[in-house]
Amino acid sequence: MALAIPVPTESLAGEKVARAVRAGLTAQPKCLPPWLFYDEAGSRLFEEITELPEYYLTRTEHSILARNAAEILARASAGERLRIAELGAGSAAKTRLLLAAAAEQQGSLLYEPIDISMTALLLAQAHIEREIPGVRVRPFAMDYTNGFRLDSPYPGERRLLLYIGSSIGNFEPEESARILGKMRAQLQPADSLLLGVDLVKDEAALLRAYDDAAGVTAAFNKNLLIRLNREMGADFEPDAFAHRVVWNRTRSRIEMHLESLAGQRVHIAALDLTLDFRCGETIHTENSYKYSQGQAEQMLTRAGFAPAACWTDPRAWFAVWLGVAS
Ligand code: AVI
Repeated sequence: MALAIPVPTESLAGEKVARAVRAGLTAQPKCLPPWLFYDEAGSRLFEEITELPEYYLTRTEHSILARNAAEILARASAGERLRIAELGAGSAAKTRLLLAAAAEQQGSLLYEPIDISMTALLLAQAHIEREIPGVRVRPFAMDYTNGFRLDSPYPGERRLLLYIGSSIGNFEPEESARILGKMRAQLQPADSLLLGVDLVKDEAALLRAYDDAAGVTAAFNKNLLIRLNREMGADFEPDAFAHRVVWNRTRSRIEMHLESLAGQRVHIAALDLTLDFRCGETIHTENSYKYSQGQAEQMLTRAGFAPAACWTDPRAWFAVWLGVAS
């Protein structure tokens, strides 16, 4: 049974965008929230990013999951049946190998992906149920950042909640603590959370990952302006802004900005808002936090998880942590 929780209607979603754009672009310094990246074109560009040679995150995490799937599942299940849920599942491409391994191990598996996009969820459901024998998909469409509910698993079953892909890195530290706390609140003791975190590393490798030679990340960043032109009647000239990436060592985060290449004025018709940009002024569009292993461990502990195991790659660029609800 697919249980769909209503997502905002077009107009509610439009209001949310309008509120965020007004708040961000009238703030000093100007900013926009990173969830605005993911319209249809932005989601496609993000898929392209995950395949870029410079963007090591997806590939590295995938290799960690592929190498350690059996051990991850054994640790999480501790001999019981598993039920797997995933936050921000999208197309669930990175999850399929875990689902296949779990279904093979226990004969059948219930997979509950949660994502804001019902379209992505239905596509994932069709693919997974066709390609992975024994997996039943029960999708939930909702914005998990506003809270979410999971029903209790059956007796003798443990839940494994996946939050992979380094999605936690796009939240401010207080927000990530709040989101991890909500995850903990939906789990029973002995259930577990699998968390993918990107680790601090050589600055040059980080900068390359967010400023690739083919310019895909630049297009992803500038797509925000194209989106505002289309949806809000803005008159941004995307080529009058440059994609800028900064490693903020003090705050341990990659920052993405759009830098105005000249003094210019922009009008946003839907907001009846006129904005002036100085040459060199930026719109701060994303933070992507990078953690030390100690910080990742602390983040889990503070949210009520006992850090039970951690898997990484030979360069220690990415880590997958298993926290058991304590
Ligand atoms: C979705 N998120 C984990 C990506 C990241 O690496 O922070 C978004 C992204 N931004 C630029 N490239 C990828």
